[in-house]
Amino acid sequence: MNIKPIITAVAAVVGLALAGFTFANEKQGQVSDVKDWNLAGGEKSEAMLLEPDRERGIAVYEVCSACHLLEGWGLSDGTFPQLAGQHRNVLIKQLTDIRAQNRDNPTMYPFALDDQIMAVSGFKHGEINPAQLVADVTAYISKLPMNPEPGQGPWEEGTPEFEQGRKLYLDNCTQCHGDNGEGSDEKFYPRIQGQHYNYMLRQFEWIRDGKRRNANPDMVKQIKGFSDKDMQMVINYTSRHMPAKELLAPSADWQNPDYD
Ligand code: HEC
Ligand code: HEC
Repeated sequence: MNIKPIITAVAAVVGLALAGFTFANEKQGQVSDVKDWNLAGGEKSEAMLLEPDRERGIAVYEVCSACHLLEGWGLSDGTFPQLAGQHRNVLIKQLTDIRAQNRDNPTMYPFALDDQIMAVSGFKHGEINPAQLVADVTAYISKLPMNPEPGQGPWEEGTPEFEQGRKLYLDNCTQCHGDNGEGSDEKFYPRIQGQHYNYMLRQFEWIRDGKRRNANPDMVKQIKGFSDKDMQMVINYTSRHMPAKELLAPSADWQNPDYD
């Protein structure tokens, strides 16, 4: 498949979207009670129960690849996150939160909201349940091998900032994201090992400052005293945790063979 025409189409739609997209929902604040953070039901629960189809997952992901790249590796400048290897439940929660506009992502709306996700994957209204497309694409992405050279923070192991970041991580993050940033599929805690430094820095700041509305309120409490320097140090440490070898692509030159 040739993705050039798609990228051109994507650029055109983004242009249109930025020019005229109106938001249906009033902006609400961050979730404040952890019981409201990840309620069962809705499209998330529906997608989790549907049987995914790999071929349809590949077809839908081709559209996503215009930003997240064919390998699912995103960009190390942090504009687009790596999606490859993320826990499937995390992908489902985040994608359905974005689709429900509980997590602001105007760049992505033109490809991910109902009419759009169906149109871009070649379906008309009534032909397929969009939750099925969510099930298909997330199953596909979660199995892609991860970028072996993600964007890392500035401080190498052995520097005082690295060590301080380690301490902050061990004291504040392991109970949810695990000893090595591996997260938890079952609990919807993201894998943050191997994620780009610049992307994580932005998300961490938005979570701390209440800008990411779907964030876990217990994380918000845990990090509310973090200074900007603390934030950089802890994310530096996180960005230097590599995922297990079996989750990584063999090299940074690996290309996704599903789009030959
Ligand atoms: C036009 C660019 C663009 C396209 C196309 C796009 N995305 Fe995104 N996506 C983004 C951006 C930008 C972010 C990060 C937003 C932020 O910083 O909060 C993102 C974030 C995400 C996240 C959250 C990741 C995380 O770590 O929490 C998921 C999941 C996701 N995208 C899935 C998809 C899927 C599936 C598709 C295809 C249906 C898609 N995206 C298409 C731009 C795009
Ligand atoms: C109480 C559990 C909890 C604690 C403690 C916690 N987190 Fe999180 N973190 C989460 C959850 C859950 C999310 C996803 C939130 C959502 O649903 O949008 C998240 C999201 C993130 C993200 C964004 C990931 C992405 O893909 O967008 C980063 C980065 C992050 N956490 C880093 C940290 C660091 C570093 C610490 C410690 C200083 C920490 N977290 C402490 C639960 C936690």
